[in-house]
Amino acid sequence: MENEVKLAAGAMVTLGLATAALMVLPYIQVRDVRPPDGLKPYTSAERRGRAAYIANGCMYCHTQQPRDRSFGPDAERGWGRASVPADYYYDKPHLLGSMRTGPDLLNIGVRQPSKDWQLGHLYQPRAYVPGSIMPAYPYLFETKAAAEPGDEEVKLPPGFAPAGQVVVALPEALDLVKYLQSLDRSYPVLPPPPRDAAAPVAPAKPAS
Ligand code: HEC
Repeated sequence: MENEVKLAAGAMVTLGLATAALMVLPYIQVRDVRPPDGLKPYTSAERRGRAAYIANGCMYCHTQQPRDRSFGPDAERGWGRASVPADYYYDKPHLLGSMRTGPDLLNIGVRQPSKDWQLGHLYQPRAYVPGSIMPAYPYLFETKAAAEPGDEEVKLPPGFAPAGQVVVALPEALDLVKYLQSLDRSYPVLPPPPRDAAAPVAPAKPAS
């Protein structure tokens, strides 16, 4: 009997420690995080685009977490400053990702704001980046003999549209591109340095 009690007590202590380390402490760390002034909540179209991002598995190849300079040259790659918890205030679930087969996308809206480029790249990545290993997403588009009023025709580089036909973006592709364009965490997150920090230190009084 004594052994069972020890076993149960050991299990409870282990569970308690794990809960504290993995749930309670992180919660205490981020519970007071407020949304930064520069961050706007997603619009409904952007939210639908985010759902398409999840459904199409973009996260399996793209992270959304530029790292600090001490961890890697993400800033030099043009992926933006290191992200902070407040950058993800409206992200539920967050899409941090762990694989970087492709570039980090947390600031793709700054780096590549063009709707035409984004649509064309989703239809056929190799039309813009020769040798790209990103999959094409042709089922987010429709090919037609001619565009109808209200259609968003994709402007592809010569040779990539099916002969004699036009490529038209379906609503899912348009929402996905709106979501990509909204990915912009380039606002400052650190308060400006105090003004007198730069002022010269007052000379020490000579000892009398
Ligand atoms: C199998 C891995 C893979 C998947 C899945 C994938 N990508 Fe990519 N992606 C890449 C690679 C590799 C590149 C770099 C080459 C290029 O630009 O095509 C890239 C580039 C990009 C770029 C341009 C980034 C830049 O900095 O220029 C965007 C935007 C993008 N992907 C969006 C998406 C979206 C949206 C999805 C989901 C619909 C997706 N990717 C799915 C591998 C992937």
